[in-house]
Amino acid sequence: MPLNLLIINGPNLNLLGRREPDIYGEDTFEDFLLHLRGLFVDSDVEIHYYQSNHEGKIIDKLHEIGFSYDGIILNAGALTHTSIAIGDAVAAIEAPVIEVHISNVHKREKFRHHSYVSANAEGVIVGLGLRGYELAVQYFI
Ligand code: DQA
Repeated sequence: MPLNLLIINGPNLNLLGRREPDIYGEDTFEDFLLHLRGLFVDSDVEIHYYQSNHEGKIIDKLHEIGFSYDGIILNAGALTHTSIAIGDAVAAIEAPVIEVHISNVHKREKFRHHSYVSANAEGVIVGLGLRGYELAVQYFI
């Protein structure tokens, strides 16, 4: 059985590549995903991907796969800093969650310093760009 992982990206992360490239880089997530899957082609791992701009849809997805997948890599975008409900969903499910942020949120505005996800996550990777997702996959493997 392959290791089943799901990457969940929250609001505005569908605009990667076009959105504030000085902060988030010039790669689209779709291109990065091809690269990421290529890196792990010889590992017995399936890297699934879901993106939504809607809080409730992210919660629904966590519920849907949170009792069957082996790991979740969650970048909830700005909802990280506002959503008690996403934090509760991460606590409610069984699958371990690694929280990832592309930018170093601690170097940025104060409102980005708090996360409702972190306390319920297995670990947190911030500020390493898209490589954070790669390191999270490696951790799960
Ligand atoms: C982000 C950081 C958040 O503060 C921001 O709202 C995002 C992206 C990151 O990956 O660096 O949308 O999660």
